Amino acid sequence: MLGIYLSGTGNTKYCMNLLVKGLEPNAAVMSLDNPNVVKAIEENDVIFLGYPVQFSNAPYMVRDFIHKNPTIWKGRQVFCLATMALFSGDGAGCTARILKKYGAHILGGLHVRMPDSICDNKLLKKSVEKNRETVVKATKKLEQTVISIKKGNYPKAGITFFAYIAGLFGQRLWFYHKTAGYSDRLKIHEACVGCGLCVKSCPMKNLSIKEGKAVPGNKCTMCYACISQCPHKAITLLGKEVKEQCRLDKYL
Ligand SMILES: Cc1cc2nc3c(=O)[nH]c(=O)nc-3n(C[C@H](O)[C@H](O)[C@H](O)COP(=O)(O)O)c2cc1C
Ligand code: SF4
Ligand code: SF4
Repeated sequence: MLGIYLSGTGNTKYCMNLLVKGLEPNAAVMSLDNPNVVKAIEENDVIFLGYPVQFSNAPYMVRDFIHKNPTIWKGRQVFCLATMALFSGDGAGCTARILKKYGAHILGGLHVRMPDSICDNKLLKKSVEKNRETVVKATKKLEQTVISIKKGNYPKAGITFFAYIAGLFGQRLWFYHKTAGYSDRLKIHEACVGCGLCVKSCPMKNLSIKEGKAVPGNKCTMCYACISQCPHKAITLLGKEVKEQCRLDKYL
C-alpha cells in the first residue's frame, strides 16, 4: 500500500497519513513531486491518491501527472481522497474517471472537509477556533473510515453518477476554465525579501530568486503552498492581499 498526495497547506497530507498509516502503519506516504513517486507506484498494488479540490475539480498537476504516466495504473487498485473547504460534488471522481480509463480498478472515494487553503480572499476565512473544530471532525471521519475499510467497506463518495452531476452543474461547468491548465497569475509583491522559502515549497518548481526577489513562472498549480509559507505575506494568487495564512499546524 502506498499513499501519494498533493497538498498546499498540509490538509491533504494530514488526511492521507491518517488514512494510510491507520490501515498499514509501515506503508509509505509521499508527495507527488517526490522524484521516486513513479517507481513507488510501480512497486505497489494498492494506491491511495489524495489532493485538494479546486473549483470542483482535481488540481491540474494531479491530472497532468496521471496523463503523463499512462502505463503505471493498469491493474492497480486505487482509492481517491479529496479534501475540500465546502463543496465537492465529485472531487474524488475527477481522478477516478481518468484512472479507470488507464486500467485502474477504483476501490472507492472519500471527501473530507478541512480549513480553506485560499488565504487571500477574506470572504473565505474562518476563525482559528472554527478551523480547529473542522480538523477534529475530519480526524474522526478518517478514523471511522479506517475502521470501515478494515472491514472491507470502502466509501464511494464522489464516484457515483449522482456525484458527477452535482460536481458538474454545482461548479465545474462554470469554473472549468480556472483549472484547465497551469496558471500564470501568481504575483510577488514589494514585501518580498528574497529569502527563498517559497522556492523550496513549490511542488512545480515554479519559483526562482532573481536579483534578490522571488520570480514566478507560468506553471502554478494553485496549491497555495508558497502563499501560506511566505513570512512576509508577499505572494497572492486569486485575491489581492493575504489575510490569515492557512497552515494546518495552527489547527492541531
Ligand atoms: C484554487 C483553489 C480552489 C478551491 N476550490 C474549492 C472548491 O471548489 N470547493 C471546496 O470545497 N474547496 C475548494 N478549495 C479549498 C481546498 O480544496 C481545501 O482547503 C483543501 O483542503 C486544501 O488542501 P491542501 O492543504 O492539502 O492543499 C480550493 C482551494 C484552492 C487553492
Ligand atoms: S518566501 Fe516570501 S519573502 Fe521569501 S522569497 Fe518567497 S516571496 Fe520573497
Ligand atoms: S507557485 Fe505557489 S501556489 Fe503555485 S504551485 Fe508553486 S507553491 Fe503552489
